[in-house]
Amino acid sequence: MLLCVFSRFVTIVVETYRPRETIFMHKLILFLGFLSGITPSIVAINETCSTDQDCKVQEKSVCLNDHCTCDYLSYYQETKRKCLKYVTEYDEFCLESEQCHPFLGANSQCDQVSNRCSCISTYKWYQGTCRKYSKKGESCIEQDTICLDAINPLALHCSNSTGMCECADGYYDRGGDSDCRKISYIDLDCAISADCFPTCDKFDVPNVYSHCELGFCKKTTVHKEHFSLYKKDVCNTSLTTSMEFSVSLQDTNDTTCLNGLLQDFTEQQCRNCPKTTYFLDRQCICAPGYFLDDNGKCIPELGMVDSTANYVNSSECPIKPSKLVDNKCYCRDYWFQTSNNRQCKKTTLEYTKNCMDNDWCLAMGPYAYCNDTTMKCQCNSQSTLNETTFLCVAKSDANMTDICLSDRDCPLYETCTNERCRCTEGFYRFNLSDVCLPKINSSCEVRDCTHIANARCSDITGLCECESPDDVTDGLQCLKLVNKLYDECLIEEQCKTVNHSSCLNQSEAMDNVTRCLCSQQYLDVNGTCYAKKSPGSLCNNQKDCTVILGESFICRNMLCQCPLGKSLNVAGSMCVSSSGSNSVTLLRTVAIFLLIYFL
Ligand SMILES: *[C@@H]1O[C@H](CO)[C@@H](O)[C@H](O)[C@H]1NC(C)=O
Ligand SMILES: *[C@@H]1O[C@H](CO)[C@@H](O)[C@H](O)[C@H]1NC(C)=O
Ligand SMILES: *[C@@H]1O[C@H](CO)[C@@H](O)[C@H](O)[C@H]1NC(C)=O
Ligand SMILES: *[C@@H]1O[C@H](CO)[C@@H](O)[C@H](O)[C@H]1NC(C)=O
Ligand SMILES: *[C@@H]1O[C@H](CO)[C@@H](O)[C@H](O)[C@H]1NC(C)=O
Ligand SMILES: *[C@@H]1O[C@H](CO)[C@@H](O)[C@H](O)[C@H]1NC(C)=O
Ligand SMILES: *[C@@H]1O[C@H](CO)[C@@H](O)[C@H](O)[C@H]1NC(C)=O
Ligand SMILES: *[C@@H]1O[C@H](CO)[C@@H](O)[C@H](O)[C@H]1NC(C)=O
Ligand SMILES: *[C@@H]1O[C@H](CO)[C@@H](O)[C@H](O)[C@H]1NC(C)=O
Ligand SMILES: *[C@@H]1O[C@H](CO)[C@@H](O)[C@H](O)[C@H]1NC(C)=O
Ligand SMILES: *[C@@H]1O[C@H](CO)[C@@H](O)[C@H](O)[C@H]1NC(C)=O
Ligand SMILES: *[C@@H]1O[C@H](CO)[C@@H](O)[C@H](O)[C@H]1NC(C)=O
Repeated sequence: MLLCVFSRFVTIVVETYRPRETIFMHKLILFLGFLSGITPSIVAINETCSTDQDCKVQEKSVCLNDHCTCDYLSYYQETKRKCLKYVTEYDEFCLESEQCHPFLGANSQCDQVSNRCSCISTYKWYQGTCRKYSKKGESCIEQDTICLDAINPLALHCSNSTGMCECADGYYDRGGDSDCRKISYIDLDCAISADCFPTCDKFDVPNVYSHCELGFCKKTTVHKEHFSLYKKDVCNTSLTTSMEFSVSLQDTNDTTCLNGLLQDFTEQQCRNCPKTTYFLDRQCICAPGYFLDDNGKCIPELGMVDSTANYVNSSECPIKPSKLVDNKCYCRDYWFQTSNNRQCKKTTLEYTKNCMDNDWCLAMGPYAYCNDTTMKCQCNSQSTLNETTFLCVAKSDANMTDICLSDRDCPLYETCTNERCRCTEGFYRFNLSDVCLPKINSSCEVRDCTHIANARCSDITGLCECESPDDVTDGLQCLKLVNKLYDECLIEEQCKTVNHSSCLNQSEAMDNVTRCLCSQQYLDVNGTCYAKKSPGSLCNNQKDCTVILGESFICRNMLCQCPLGKSLNVAGSMCVSSSGSNSVTLLRTVAIFLLIYFL
């Protein structure tokens, strides 16, 4: 501590000297610090350093040009007193909006509920930028406003005649707030019966309609309500609107640029290739609209043209299962796009209602969710299912306050489970707190560990940890190990020092205090817990038997039993000579002795 103060003092004094001497002095201080066992990360931001290790870990700074500085991809936040990293992906963790702007642009923000970089309201991440969008039935005349459906960018278009977003050709309107869905026909893919329309060649046969069965439209004679729609709109719409045309590829023979791994790009290539960007003149990353896949390549997000490849077949799309339209990859019909545009998710089927997560249930409208017990889609408590339309309709007295449907509706460190936001694994509401706080081993990046006695936020790992490395924890408390059997304990982990003991309530003591006691099937002998034995129990050595059963027993053939020539007494507690009981033998000996003595 003293040395720490001293070194800080020296730091201030030596800064007026020439840099070479300063660095020397620092090296000396760090060396002294090392000798005395003090962690040598003492140099604050803007002060002189010689290696990254010198700089204060909690400030997350590095040693650049002999000074502790935020690295080129981060900036110093005055109130938080640390370097914050610029975010280079949509939906990545953030603390404030400044972190989001360089990559996601001016219309992005750090969402204060979820602490993730996202677009400001009425904007959506699409084709590598936050774009102003309108939903079905909303105006799209304003410049740069696109029509965007929640889950399928192909489903809506801006109508020239009305200036409103409407269902695109080949899509039908489910009414109300719901999405537009792809029209399907007999023998083709579907998810719900409303998707199935009669086919044109069956037009002449009256009352032939179709319904969805196990993912395919099948002939049926119901769904009359679709008939007029079919007559009016459908027959002249070609089913596969897929059109293949080529984009002009970058005029290059650079194979790295065309198809290379991000790690192989030189700075020049990174600057010139359309799929990569040299972020803040410092780091090669995938350009907005592209992301790094598991193989290290930048691939286009859904709905984005791949500017270095000319796809001619859906099977070439990097994200699957896909559908190629206008040279852009989208999700296959009845699969839908996730909000980060990187995944195609399956949808539930009307027939099974099966789901893996809430996203699958979007086919039932915005109020449906996945019951994690039954793994079936169901309407939330404030809505009911209309069997005909397969939509969850809000009840007349619906109150959607405090109801969540997905994790996106929940604050930081909370997960939506059964319509309610609950603390994510590793976090909990301490003392009925409004927010979820970290347990031991969970992140203290945003909320510290002061609610746990004897715990601190580790500078190195950024996790809550017990102050003393000898402490044990159940995640909620940091406690000392017990010294011996019968010491008081609160958690099981404290009893680790005594083998075969557990933290238990001693029923006979009645003092309602939990202590480390021998576990079931173990007995206390002089403060050590030994496995209970009875004659005939398995043993490994003599002591296993004698410590519990007494010295008369031995371990023979791996069983606690009497030595040869002896057998159990009547009570079964001791081994005695087979000819009779010990006491009889003793009496007999004494009698013989007395007899000899007196004769
Ligand atoms: C560090 O130095 C720079 C440039 O001299 C200055 O602008 C900045 O405010 C300093 N930062 C701190 C935290 O003192
Ligand atoms: C809408 O108008 C644009 C520009 O005037 C035109 O290119 C496009 O073909 C029109 N679309 C329809 C469906 O009429
Ligand atoms: C389909 O288009 C043809 C001409 O292209 C037209 O004569 C016919 O009426 C249309 N059918 C429907 C059902 O709109
Ligand atoms: C690319 O390679 C082809 C054939 O190898 C050559 O004809 C063409 O000029 C090259 N283009 C560029 C831009 O280097
Ligand atoms: C697209 O690829 C699939 C699978 O590779 C193939 O079966 C299909 O014939 C291809 N379609 C076209 C139009 O080339
Ligand atoms: C279901 O929706 C249809 C179409 O909107 C409507 O006509 C019908 O009355 C609804 N059924 C129920 C039970 O609400
Ligand atoms: C809706 O529910 C919330 C709590 O869940 C409650 O505070 C609020 O008063 C309710 N609103 C109405 C209109 O009942
Ligand atoms: C999930 O389904 C089961 C069985 O139908 C039901 O008992 C349970 O209440 C459901 N869970 C929720 C949160 O609705
Ligand atoms: C729990 O909350 C109550 C009421 O806000 C407060 O009085 C009490 O001190 C808190 N307990 C702890 C251990 O922080
Ligand atoms: C914390 O993490 C360490 C190392 O990963 C692990 O050994 C320990 O069991 C964890 N403790 C708790 C309470 O989760
Ligand atoms: C024992 O302790 C528990 C929890 O501390 C408490 O709820 C219970 O009332 C106590 N019982 C007695 C008999 O004191
Ligand atoms: C228990 O302690 C007593 C007295 O100190 C000693 O005679 C005996 O051998 C001890 N037993 C064991 C199993 O250590």
